[in-house]
Amino acid sequence: MRYDSSSRASFGSKLGAILAAAGSAVGLGNIWRFPYETGNHGGAAFIVIYMVCVVLLGLPLMLAEFTIGRRSHASTGQAFEVLRPGSLWRWVGYMGVLTGFLILGYYSVVAGWTLEYIYQSGVGNLHGMDAAGYDAQFAAFETHPFRPLLWLGVFMLLTHFIIIRGVKEGIERYSKIMMPALFILIMLLACCSILLPGAEKGIRFLFQPDFTKVNTQVIISAMGQAFFSLSIAMGCLSTYASYFDQQVKFGHVALSVAGIDSLVAILSGLIIFPAAFSVGIQPDSGPKLIFITLPVVFQEAFHAVPVLAYLFSVAFYVLLALAALTSTISLHEVSTAFLQEKLKLRRVTAARFITMGAFLIGVVSSLSLGIWKGVGWGGMTIFDCLDYFTAKIMLPVGGLLTAIFVGWMMQRVWVKDELSNYGTLHTPYFGVYHFILRYLAPIGIGLIFLKEIGLLG
Ligand code: PHE
Repeated sequence: MRYDSSSRASFGSKLGAILAAAGSAVGLGNIWRFPYETGNHGGAAFIVIYMVCVVLLGLPLMLAEFTIGRRSHASTGQAFEVLRPGSLWRWVGYMGVLTGFLILGYYSVVAGWTLEYIYQSGVGNLHGMDAAGYDAQFAAFETHPFRPLLWLGVFMLLTHFIIIRGVKEGIERYSKIMMPALFILIMLLACCSILLPGAEKGIRFLFQPDFTKVNTQVIISAMGQAFFSLSIAMGCLSTYASYFDQQVKFGHVALSVAGIDSLVAILSGLIIFPAAFSVGIQPDSGPKLIFITLPVVFQEAFHAVPVLAYLFSVAFYVLLALAALTSTISLHEVSTAFLQEKLKLRRVTAARFITMGAFLIGVVSSLSLGIWKGVGWGGMTIFDCLDYFTAKIMLPVGGLLTAIFVGWMMQRVWVKDELSNYGTLHTPYFGVYHFILRYLAPIGIGLIFLKEIGLLG
């Protein structure tokens, strides 16, 4: 079974492939989730484990997903069926689609928050307060019965609109401008944050590891964050890879994406923590962390020239929203392509179902932070539950099964063919890569898991 690629998007150029994959990877996961996970798990030691996960698990799994996608020419929901027809492996694909769909639901809520902050900074409401003031402002917004839902709806529609037009023109074109702009702005803001009085404490928090605080929760969280941030283990990159042509060099794309993604994450940490320590915001404030810290950074760093504070904050939130948009598009694409292929629906119809379903999940998770605060599980809101189950359970399980599939179920020559572009590229690291997929990744992820659920001392 091969999917008819003429009816859906394809990335024309190699640069297009890198940009699309980087666009998917760089998003709220780097700028919103990474800092608060780092803050919740004690700082530098978490970052060290995170980087180890990126290199030892993230890169090989990304290559494995590229292999599945390009080899099958199908989106993740169908790829396993194409490569191992009639086997139970297709459920790994279905699980990936479900994971992406659930992430899309609650991720869009936060993406909606970025639109509120574009608005608030645009009308000049993000100034003149201290950290406690911004905290109260955020709390009032987050718990408001309609506002977050309105922005969630707007964001879902934006994603929908781009998805039904196909990703090539829109995304490829503006990614080329948007990604470098975001990068430059983040670097500038990191410099500003480091120069704030008392910033050293934040820098120490980021770079001086204290491994005594490490437990399996920290390791699982770092691994989940690495998978989440790289957009792997749920079939997103394998779906994108089904649009790659034979010239695309997997190693090159994977290294670029992982490099850019990690750099943006660390730079975000360098914006948030020096500022947070400087003005006395707790690093473990959770999901609201960036929304209370950043207004302070803009205000303090540019207090001599308020117009700069204004311009920087509007520009930053616009770029953050765009970064989130390239990620929601990639999440939406996985489910849309799946419905389209599986149920033979028109792309527009498939996209409509996904948009409506994800919107509903978004509404429930957004309200669980406000008027439905009591509803949840084990002290967590529905929003927290979705984040927890997708990132800390479904992604590691997806990663484990992806590694086993490519390591053990696909023929070694196929895997090598894809990595070496049918023997035209030199791949001296193939042995290490294959070893990681066969042994290190499954055993490593498996052990961490067993330990977490208490089956292993
Ligand atoms: N990687 C994206 C981010 O960091 C989120 C994402 C996860 C996108 C999984 C696609 C798939 O924001």
